[in-house]
Amino acid sequence: MLDRIIEKTSEYIDSMPKKERKKYGQFFTSIETARYMADLFVIPEKEKISILDAGAGSGILTCALVERLNTIEGIKEIDITCYETDINVLPLLQENLAYIQNESEKAISVQIVQDNYITSQYLDFNCMIGGNLNPKKYDLVIGNPPYMKIPKDAPEAKAMPDICYGAPNMYFIFAAMGLFNLKDNGEMVYIIPRSWTSGAYFKKFREYLLSHGKLLHIHLFGSRNKVFDKEDVLQETIIVKVKKTCEKPENVKITSTHTNKEFDKCKEMLVPYDLVVSGDELFVYLVTNEEEVAVLDKLRRWDKTLPELGLRMKTGLTVDFRNRDLLRDEEEEGTIPLFYSQHIKQGEVQFPIKKDNEYILTEQKGLMQENKNYLFVKRFTAKEEPRRLQCGVYLSKKFPQYEKISTQNKINFIDGLLTEMSECLVYGLYVLFNSTIYDEYYRILNGSTQVNSTEINCMPVPELDVIQEMGRKIMKSKDFSEESCNLIMEGYYGQDSRSA
Ligand SMILES: C[S@@+](CC[C@H](N)C(=O)[O-])C[C@H]1O[C@@H](n2cnc3c(N)ncnc32)[C@H](O)[C@@H]1O
Repeated sequence: MLDRIIEKTSEYIDSMPKKERKKYGQFFTSIETARYMADLFVIPEKEKISILDAGAGSGILTCALVERLNTIEGIKEIDITCYETDINVLPLLQENLAYIQNESEKAISVQIVQDNYITSQYLDFNCMIGGNLNPKKYDLVIGNPPYMKIPKDAPEAKAMPDICYGAPNMYFIFAAMGLFNLKDNGEMVYIIPRSWTSGAYFKKFREYLLSHGKLLHIHLFGSRNKVFDKEDVLQETIIVKVKKTCEKPENVKITSTHTNKEFDKCKEMLVPYDLVVSGDELFVYLVTNEEEVAVLDKLRRWDKTLPELGLRMKTGLTVDFRNRDLLRDEEEEGTIPLFYSQHIKQGEVQFPIKKDNEYILTEQKGLMQENKNYLFVKRFTAKEEPRRLQCGVYLSKKFPQYEKISTQNKINFIDGLLTEMSECLVYGLYVLFNSTIYDEYYRILNGSTQVNSTEINCMPVPELDVIQEMGRKIMKSKDFSEESCNLIMEGYYGQDSRSA
């Protein structure tokens, strides 16, 4: 059945301009991925199974799941509910579901809801007056939701205040509603971007997902552009299986393939749940091999974070293009340095470098910071660069003529909140942030090229005196290379954080 539905979908894709489909965040799951997703379910032992596919498109996922259910003898009846809003694809969905109904070996009932999946039932989700006190719940939920950033005042965002923060993406609103629509102990398999696994924007969603459900399985793709055939999707995508339960499983199964074609060559491992889902922020650490598990294991033996030590990573203060009139190429009366990522070179901060706009003339408090010791860390790096974490030591004594300085918002800096950081402390932080293992840890946590303060402020660090000791060591050695940092680090992680 699925082959025919895929064929019909291809004809539809060819006949429908991409621009039209983009309006609905529409792209279609490949045949292999759909079958793989359907195979992930543990099917409950009962005669009648209800399934939900919200944002059903042409019905590919529903069809894959029905094919799977057809192979299970005990099942007599399948009850399908599909939500879809795009009037262009709806006739195809109707045709395909009628075909499935005809061809399937089981009795099939079909309900196509031509309504917005979110706004049609947010009253139920939020237990509001007018909501259905007994909303429909399903045994299995499968989905490839629309990927669309929506404004924070879009109806779907306003409907789900419990999980939205700022301008959300439809995909996680769908995932939250999908979990809501599951019966207790039911399973949901969704293909979604990985962006929700870290970052402050997704915290409320993670809290919802991981308190009402538990992650049982995550599938990762090695290649980000080979997940959706024919479709130009560059988002890094993962498949998750979530069970609606409060009971934490011992392990999460993590599988990976390079593309969406070779599911038979899956790499597979079981990782302790607490290693994957960790910390107050409920970050999800997507490890792909034993080496990465070892990285988490080693650093997690340190149980402090920067804020717990009175330190914090912050984002640079000045958005340069919004303050053009204040920027200067040359030093003049009253100007202070404005540091950009280009000033971070070989582990230190070099200034001036004859860069445009490297001075700022301002009285605005919000654009200035004390001239004191910091560790500067680039916020953005190019995908092909070998490291995400690239940092430079900033020492105020090198620029004694300035009382204040400024930082462009494309760099981050670590600041001592109560007292100024000593030189050895800044150098100790440099050892951490310039080591290979720290970079690896960050990459497991965040797949993007951006370095976010939220994540950094949650990374494990040793006690203050240990960081200072590391700093003294590198200052003495005068070798500021990554290898030198690794060597110093090796004496500390994996052991009691106090013994070198
Ligand atoms: C990424 S596509 C996936 C299609 C299909 N599930 C598949 O895997 O091939 C998401 C679908 O959700 C539909 N959609 C977008 N917003 C919706 C909404 N608010 N309610 C219901 N469906 C919606 C789009 O029209 C689109 O067909």
